[in-house]
Amino acid sequence: CLVRKHMFPKDFPQLRNDTFLRAARGEETEHVPVWCMRQAGRYLTEFREFRAGKDFFETCQSPEACCELTLQPLRRFGFDAAIIFSDILVIPQALGMDVQMVAGKGPTFPEPLKEPEDLQRLTAKVDVGKELGYVFKAITLTRHKIEGKVPLIGFSGAPWTLMSYMIEGGGSNTHSKAKRWLYRHPEASHMLLTMLTDVIVEYLLGQVAAGAQALQVFESHAGILGPVHFNEYSLPYLRDIARRVKDELKEAGQDVPMIVFAKDAHYAVEDLSQSHYDVVGLDWTIDPQSARERTGGKVSLQGNMDPCALYAPKERISDIVKKMLEGFGTRGYIANLGHGVYPDMDPENVGAFVEAVHQHSKQMIKKI
Ligand code: CP3
Repeated sequence: CLVRKHMFPKDFPQLRNDTFLRAARGEETEHVPVWCMRQAGRYLTEFREFRAGKDFFETCQSPEACCELTLQPLRRFGFDAAIIFSDILVIPQALGMDVQMVAGKGPTFPEPLKEPEDLQRLTAKVDVGKELGYVFKAITLTRHKIEGKVPLIGFSGAPWTLMSYMIEGGGSNTHSKAKRWLYRHPEASHMLLTMLTDVIVEYLLGQVAAGAQALQVFESHAGILGPVHFNEYSLPYLRDIARRVKDELKEAGQDVPMIVFAKDAHYAVEDLSQSHYDVVGLDWTIDPQSARERTGGKVSLQGNMDPCALYAPKERISDIVKKMLEGFGTRGYIANLGHGVYPDMDPENVGAFVEAVHQHSKQMIKKI
């Protein structure tokens, strides 16, 4: 059993705010829970100070650093969940690829995969506990240090998003190198996606064993796929991950909510709501009410305020939040942005967002 394989006794502090977990399961709450993707990030002065002069992935490999960066936003704002500080690209690293974070450029692979033969360069049987044990240690340490204030979310990149980075070698507008594989090397593409899926499943289970109380899978590059390719190269793997993780957790007597965030894949919300995930995360290109109608109460929803709306004055942020809450309703809903907080954001406006969600939702729930 993959959960037990990574499990050891930990004796964590008792959880005092389970609003996020209850909303993920569609249960009643007193307010709508809220957190932000990239809540630990460069928009915080304390984050920039802590990260100054340190290599990004070395920071990811230090459990103490990850713990500190995860806790920073919780000291400022009333977030209802924390997400472990790490990165989705630790998986390509575990598969043997070199990945560097280049200032001003973002993640960079000096030797990306070019042709199917390059798959042979990847580690065939990854020892997840050994290669990614530092993430598990970070999760265990952070779960202790959060002192039960809020639940801790673990995460992974989804197979297609990781595949596209491994072939593109970094960010891209067209993802044409990675999409070339889909058209030209469908078999090799499926082989790579399968390899990634196997590692992701064990990685997510290891995170739960280490103390993660919810899991989010980031398919950040879904938008570059049309519905046909999404159905062939993304959705089956997203489903497989949730099904296998859930089955293993059930066997171990654990129930951990899973969130899928497929950015710009609004054509797929119906399918995503029937993919064994408890929560579907949404970007801002979909209207809250229609997302609710199309998912028909089968899942909880998370999202989806435009991150740029945080540039608005605080009163305006409050109005936008109110409309969003009215669109989604207060049950089975987790407020979030439609993508990560931008590095130039004023932290005060992030605080205004959190407060507006709590304030408006409390009033709305009282009236029901
Ligand atoms: O607060 C959190 O959300 C938790 C930490 C987190 C990071 N990356 C930290 C980080 C999470 C969940 C991620 C996931 C991640 N990483 C994704 C999926 C989410 C998404 O944005 O769609 C992706 C695509 C990546 C890859 C990646 N890592 C990119 C594109 C960048 C930005 C590069 C840049 O220069 O802007 C990173 C770097 C990164 N990961 C930062 C942080 C806080 C900023 C760089 C730094 O701290 O020096």
